[in-house]
Amino acid sequence: MQQLALRWKRVGVKIGFVPTMGYLHDGHLSLVREARKRLGKKGMIVVSIYVNPTQFAPTEDLSKYPRDLKRDLQMCRAEGVDVVFTPDDAEMYPRWGEAADKPARGDARPTGYSTYVIEEKLGRVMEGAARPVHFRGVTTVVAKLFNLVQPDVAVFGQKDFQQAAVVKRMAGDLNFPVKIVVAPTRREPDGLAMSSRNKYLAGDLRRQARVLWRAMQAAQAAVKQSNSVPAAKLKANLKKLIESEPAARLDYVEFFEPETLAPVAQVTRGAQMALAVFVGKTRLIDNIRL
Ligand code: PAF
Repeated sequence: MQQLALRWKRVGVKIGFVPTMGYLHDGHLSLVREARKRLGKKGMIVVSIYVNPTQFAPTEDLSKYPRDLKRDLQMCRAEGVDVVFTPDDAEMYPRWGEAADKPARGDARPTGYSTYVIEEKLGRVMEGAARPVHFRGVTTVVAKLFNLVQPDVAVFGQKDFQQAAVVKRMAGDLNFPVKIVVAPTRREPDGLAMSSRNKYLAGDLRRQARVLWRAMQAAQAAVKQSNSVPAAKLKANLKKLIESEPAARLDYVEFFEPETLAPVAQVTRGAQMALAVFVGKTRLIDNIRL
């Protein structure tokens, strides 16, 4: 992949990149369209499909993560993607399979691989607090993918708001010559954000999952009505609303400044809201600008 990208670079071809973990849906395709829009017809669009083990804790759904490469490739072809990069663990993480004498600090699992990229501020709260190895895995794999794909433009989804903020910070801090674009969340007609994990929502769980959207709408309405609402009060009300669905359990809901991710005590127009909710065993995240 890197040799191909460097060859393109030498003759002035621009590269647009959409990193994914596969099991593609319309949300991913909208990122591809955004990359194409930014680059025009002459640019090359690369999609990577790689379920990155370092961003999953041992207790999480790595082995069960949905995969369907054949279908993904068909979707990419239909969308006019130029290259689909599908590395495996050995290719992405040298010495991955070697038994480590002792796991590195905070390591999800013992491996001979030992170099990580860590963003130390934006990645500590919310998803970073709930999933301690997650962002280290994301920043590491995205940095590696940037080195391999050499993109001029990389497109990430707004659904993973914090991930986009962490990646932007990482790319700036480490001087990656890439423009990070964040494209809007695609939603199902009933408001549920498109996500590969929606596949886990069988039967009534799919209906109950709509409560994330309802919670965001309720917060939106509260801010519209009162202009300024204490975050603690809003959190308590939303917890009640969310947990009125029998299979839903709130992991966190936060209100914060969209640039710094600093929490706000009073929620006003323009604050960002993010939440994580278990619906059955499936953990869903979403966010909205109020
Ligand atoms: O958002 C995702 O699908 C993943 O976190 C990413 C950016 C592809 C890194 O593995």
